[in-house]
Amino acid sequence: MCGIVGYTGPKPAAPLLLNGLAKLEYRGYDSAGLALLTPQGRLKIIKKAGKIGNLVAAVKKAHISPTITAGIGHTRWATHGHPTDRNAHPHTDCGGEVAVVHNGIVENYEKLKKQLQAKGHHFKSQTDSEVLAHLIEEGLKHQSAVHSRQPAGKAKAWVEAVRWALSQIEGTYSVVAVYEREPESLIGARAGGGGLVVGLGKDENFLASDVPALLAHTRRVYYLDDNEMVILSPSGTRVVSVLNGKPIPKKVSEIQWSAEQAEKGGYPHFMLKEIMEQPRALEDTFNSRLDLGTGEVLLEGKFWSSPFVREFKKITLLAMGTSFYAAMVGKFLLEKYLRVPVEVDNASEFRYRDPIIGKDTLAIVISQSGETVDTLVALREAKAKGAKIAAICNVMGSSVTREADGVLLTRAGPEIGVASTKAFTTQLGALWLLTLHLARVRKAMPPAELKRKARELARLPMMVGALLKQRKAVEKLAKLYAKYFNFLYIGRGIQYPIALEGALKLKEISYIHAEGYPGGEMKHGPIALIDSKMPVLAIALKSSGVYEKILNNMAEVKARSGKLIALVEKGDKLAGKKADHVIEIPAISEDLSPLLSVVPLQLLAYEIAKLKHREIDQPRNLAKSVTVE
Ligand code: G6P
Repeated sequence: MCGIVGYTGPKPAAPLLLNGLAKLEYRGYDSAGLALLTPQGRLKIIKKAGKIGNLVAAVKKAHISPTITAGIGHTRWATHGHPTDRNAHPHTDCGGEVAVVHNGIVENYEKLKKQLQAKGHHFKSQTDSEVLAHLIEEGLKHQSAVHSRQPAGKAKAWVEAVRWALSQIEGTYSVVAVYEREPESLIGARAGGGGLVVGLGKDENFLASDVPALLAHTRRVYYLDDNEMVILSPSGTRVVSVLNGKPIPKKVSEIQWSAEQAEKGGYPHFMLKEIMEQPRALEDTFNSRLDLGTGEVLLEGKFWSSPFVREFKKITLLAMGTSFYAAMVGKFLLEKYLRVPVEVDNASEFRYRDPIIGKDTLAIVISQSGETVDTLVALREAKAKGAKIAAICNVMGSSVTREADGVLLTRAGPEIGVASTKAFTTQLGALWLLTLHLARVRKAMPPAELKRKARELARLPMMVGALLKQRKAVEKLAKLYAKYFNFLYIGRGIQYPIALEGALKLKEISYIHAEGYPGGEMKHGPIALIDSKMPVLAIALKSSGVYEKILNNMAEVKARSGKLIALVEKGDKLAGKKADHVIEIPAISEDLSPLLSVVPLQLLAYEIAKLKHREIDQPRNLAKSVTVE
């Protein structure tokens, strides 16, 4: 939620920051802005409501000098205050000397705002973020007096003023601040969610909410942890604690993603590119981890061979959104093959009850970004209760991966489209790897079966590739169904989460109201909705243990004149005959079928959204990383 960039170095800052923002637009896209530090020691602010294109036009009009080589930028997802020019970031203090960009919520902002107004501060926006700029201004007044006699006193006062301001606010945040009298140092800080990555270059340094904004410039990065503050100049970076100002050493890591991976590569939308990339993403996720000779799964890190993974008694899966649906599939696999109790929790609900977990629990958090605030907080809650944490995550170095005991990286590459696709299928792939690994070390599956499953898994990338060739057929279907206003998706067993995911994809990018239900639930309410204007998509795979039951559901829909699309195994005439239209997938064992059945549903949502001329990669009101509660 909200994207932040910062740059200081020898290059013209404005185009570089705008480029970085464009790479982060998936984090928020209702307004955007820049604060540039001129060589004359002044701050220049340009901000605009709407997409980044509006900001680009405004910057062009402003004829920004290439001699400006430092600044910060922001793309917003509004929490407090409408998406207007005025509420766009950066926000400034009364004198326009300090500018801040902020991701998160200042929970005590109303109280702070009143106090600051009483001291004479004049507020220009309705945002919670603006209090930060005024707090820094207050801090500067005090700290400048304290440090005025010391050598380098001005620089010290700047750092201490930001540190003091941060100590006043409650909530979770990532923030970057600049001060026109200290143009050589950008200050970034983080507490709670949000994510802030420092990118290291030669005579230049960068800050960003997320790695894609840095890939064109550097792959050497480190992440800020909670309550850490970075002071960034062209010649170097240093990190101190927000709490006590003491220096904190950081470990630099090398990002494996390339800049090209974060480009559309000739596709009209990132979402389509990411759907089409799934065979490669799955292949990478399995690569070097699956030993087809023995059925062994080789996972990186000591955690996976620790005694705990043989001994835990219970699993809790925690995630949000699409990752939550992957977790629901995971429950089927882990329970079936490990024979341990598995719970799945929506991470945002988990912390507000008193879940029964303890030292014998393995909590598996699933997150594409590794920065979803609810997932992160649930992780901490599980940890506090004594559970060990395993993370299935797509972003190495993200908060979730840093706080987990063991990490299984999905190697999907950067996912930019807001609607998650390749992250989901690779999460399912990772859950399979995990199931096979745990089943082997816990001796829960005979070696021959492990080998068979590993081989089946290894064939999946190729099968997904073949399935993607059906895009034209799905496109035709989309033309017939784009006119409807409502949709039901039904599935049973392991296909129930896929029904939920199919419905989510459709609603989030086409804005058609769509719901997923377990087939058995139909008679308890949803069937009342069925008439000739209500299409139902039923996942009816022969391999399923509840195949006949879903056929009954389909018959019941048809008996009430509902429009019916059936997702069936190739050549299944029985299910096919009951439906108006059919989507076919190749035959595969029930446990692996979600990895195939979800693919046409992703395509269907995409094609319908395209016909409806939706902003597919940036659907309204959504953001890719939900970093505020
Ligand atoms: C947002 C995104 C979804 C994603 C969910 C969880 O809602 O739009 O695509 O599934 O967050 O995100 P995570 O990064 O934790 O998987």
